[in-house]
Amino acid sequence: MAHFYYNHGEMFAENVALETIAENYGTPTYVYSRSALTEHFLAYQVALANRSHLICYAVKANSNIAVLNVLAQLGAGFDIVSGGELERVIAAGGDPKKIIFSGVGKKPSEMEKALAIDIHCFNVESEAELDVLNAVARACGKIAPISLRVNPDVDANTHPYISTGLRENKFGIDIHEALEVYLKAAQMESLNIIGVDCHIGSQLTETEPFIDALSRVLTLVDRLQDHGVNLKHLDLGGGLGVCYKDEIPPRTDDYIKEILLHLDKRDLTLILEPGRSITANAGILLTTVEYLKPGQEKNFAIVDAAMNDMIRPALYQAWLAIDPVTPRVGIARKWDVVGPICETGDFIGKDRTLTIAQGDLLCIKSAGAYGFSMSSNYNSRGKAAEIMVDGDNIHEIRQRENFKDLMRGESLISDHKE
Ligand code: LLP
Repeated sequence: MAHFYYNHGEMFAENVALETIAENYGTPTYVYSRSALTEHFLAYQVALANRSHLICYAVKANSNIAVLNVLAQLGAGFDIVSGGELERVIAAGGDPKKIIFSGVGKKPSEMEKALAIDIHCFNVESEAELDVLNAVARACGKIAPISLRVNPDVDANTHPYISTGLRENKFGIDIHEALEVYLKAAQMESLNIIGVDCHIGSQLTETEPFIDALSRVLTLVDRLQDHGVNLKHLDLGGGLGVCYKDEIPPRTDDYIKEILLHLDKRDLTLILEPGRSITANAGILLTTVEYLKPGQEKNFAIVDAAMNDMIRPALYQAWLAIDPVTPRVGIARKWDVVGPICETGDFIGKDRTLTIAQGDLLCIKSAGAYGFSMSSNYNSRGKAAEIMVDGDNIHEIRQRENFKDLMRGESLISDHKE
């Protein structure tokens, strides 16, 4: 089912015209579809119905508490990487027993909080972290459930900034050293080894790298078993790609089928940490054309969404579709769609063929993942509003930031004149 579609010449999100949202809440505004979120999450649940599993949505992709709440209601677990994400999951009604804590730089204070609420597992990313976690758990009188995040050294064939499973990346423990580290962890009194984890990258459009990583991890699982370390779960991370332009990533059910084929009859719970594949195509960014600036070399369409709202094009050369909300007839031209920020890198899309006029609304597609969650206040721009559409209903799930929000916590220095 299409969640964002044209009806009678204008674009809708579920049963709501985007024009109505712009009129009532202004722009730039993120708009999410509850039914899209639900459909994308359930694709995982259904494909794994006959297997012990836990889908831990990667909170970093879109961490609005209403998004987390919709997923929590469907039974999702959560993959977090900070104390802030932990607080969000709790505020959203997520089950602590379904939280896994990833990330290379967990602080003792963050570990304490996670131990206090009895999260499911810590994905430990280094030997040094193992020592700190053991000490923190001992001091709290707790046993920390752990898995080691191993780096399987496979090429995910994705953008270098979002590739994580190569030896040269900062993530995880080299798979060749993992056995030794596991045996060390097994001796630590306040740790309980329950699993193994890897995550090789994001926006993968083929299954092969996942399967390569899986078979390397399974070899490790067997070696661990030979040494008396029996694991309960295998966490294959996130990373399944989506279609932004013309990519053809595997469908969720085919990707899962392939994994299950290789997991075979092993008595391991499968954990996955999908982010993008759940939220990217469940959201759009609505923006207004402020000015048109046709020129000799280039035509610029200056819109009110900028790199502070959506940094993916500037940071990863990401391509996002840009469609008019109400297509008009007329001569199309090529436009660079750019924001108002004082940086040449502030663009949303280049060389887009569009028929547009000042004041038109544009829809930036596939913006639900790593959009708002990566936004900033650069150029003292308040963060965009966020809306969740659910059938005919419009929920404002985050108010647009105002000037007071922008300066919260700041103060003038007090001038002491003696
Ligand atoms: N698990 C771990 C440990 C991760 O580091 C990530 C993403 C995920 C799960 C979720 O991956 P996903 O299913 O969303 O691909 N900002 C970049 C993407 C960075 C991904 C970071 N880690 C972008 O906009 O493309």
